[in-house]
Amino acid sequence: MDQKLVVAIVLVILTSATADYVRPKPRKTLDFPWKPRGLSQPQQVHISLAGEKHMRITWITDDVNYPSFVEYGTSPGKHTSLNRGESTSYSYLFYSSGMIHHTVIGPLEDDTVYFYRCGGKGPEFKLKTPPSKFPITFTVAGDLGQTGWTASTLDHIGRCSHDMFLLPGDISYADYQQHRWDTFGELVQPLASARPWMVTEGNHEIEIIPFFKAGFQAYNARWKMPFEESGSNSNLYYSFEVAGVHIIMLGSYVDYDEYSDQYSWLKADLLKVDRNKTPWLIVLFHAPWYNSNKAHHGERDDMKAAMEPLLHAARVDIVLAGHVHAYERSKRVNNGRSDPCGTVHITIGDGGNREGLARKFKDPQPEWSAFREASFGHGELNIVNATHAFWGWHRNDDDEPVRSDQVWITSLVSSGCLAERNMNLGRFSWHLRKENLLTTL
Ligand SMILES: *[C@@H]1O[C@H](CO)[C@@H](O)[C@H](O)[C@H]1NC(C)=O
Ligand SMILES: [Fe+2]
Repeated sequence: MDQKLVVAIVLVILTSATADYVRPKPRKTLDFPWKPRGLSQPQQVHISLAGEKHMRITWITDDVNYPSFVEYGTSPGKHTSLNRGESTSYSYLFYSSGMIHHTVIGPLEDDTVYFYRCGGKGPEFKLKTPPSKFPITFTVAGDLGQTGWTASTLDHIGRCSHDMFLLPGDISYADYQQHRWDTFGELVQPLASARPWMVTEGNHEIEIIPFFKAGFQAYNARWKMPFEESGSNSNLYYSFEVAGVHIIMLGSYVDYDEYSDQYSWLKADLLKVDRNKTPWLIVLFHAPWYNSNKAHHGERDDMKAAMEPLLHAARVDIVLAGHVHAYERSKRVNNGRSDPCGTVHITIGDGGNREGLARKFKDPQPEWSAFREASFGHGELNIVNATHAFWGWHRNDDDEPVRSDQVWITSLVSSGCLAERNMNLGRFSWHLRKENLLTTL
């Protein structure tokens, strides 16, 4: 045979065999320009919801005497309102943080652009408050870090017109090197100063030093979430409501057994959910309960055993988790099997951190697993109305977002599962009153 023809045939075979996406290697941690301390401008600005119609503006200054106030208004340059806040700082080994300011602004109009400035100096920032009604769009990615892949993920999130970003843990990958929290804050400022970033903690936020440093010091100081506003006594678990969605953030690294504070708070919070007001119920935590990847397999089975009956009784629509550096979506599941009144579990720990991908999935794919792929990427959850949401997962295919998984999710409100839920929750509150304990549902 003609040699050229053989080469051509071989090439055709090769290209069709490699038409599959080639899994990329981890990318290096980004280089950040060195900045002298003592800059007078606010840095690392990010915002988060702080109760109904309020937003917490978090920002850092090197100057410890910097005043903690934020001026804001609905036209650029015209700051008609001013709110004062609080500030904190922390030391960690040889590191001393700047002044971390938390200023809650509001009441704010829904779905409205505000212009704001921190501490009377520095640049003006622009935010948009979330809508009060459907539709609402969330972007989602866990295990972000601060590498070249993180930059790609953030770029794609920025291209999606969204109302809020949800992060199921493992944020900066500072891993004890506290200045990395600062570089991360700078990296995400363009997005995080414009839309609320609602986060929960992962194992990389713990940063405990036995007998010397308690856990979550940097996380709690820098990423204050609306826990007081939601009746929680810990920044490590809380809830909030936005546009017909009740979202609960849980902690995978804080006690979760049935005698724990977190468990009691979760029960109380679930009892408050009114599905007429918030037809959608979504929960986030770091370590997934439904995971067929070899990485972190079964790691939080005890948390699942303790809390899944509660989430199931409350008819949670969607759980978003991270930790595993890959993507996986389940069917509606409960207690290890598909169940029409169960929860869709999505693992999305694929933000692009320096540890790279978790490529090995278990074979065969479990019955409950609907889709799985080891790639970096992000998710987009567009809740269209009380009954329909469109979920899309986009991989960072050579730096272009490519939608690899997509599905319409119908809420449990529309499924007939809710009548049974009310019965369960009735028994559930009976238990709560009678014995302050829930064992069976
Ligand atoms: C909700 O959205 C879905 C998908 O767009 C649509 O088919 C359905 O009719 C909508 N429901 C209502 C009550 O508008
Ligand atoms: Fe993790």
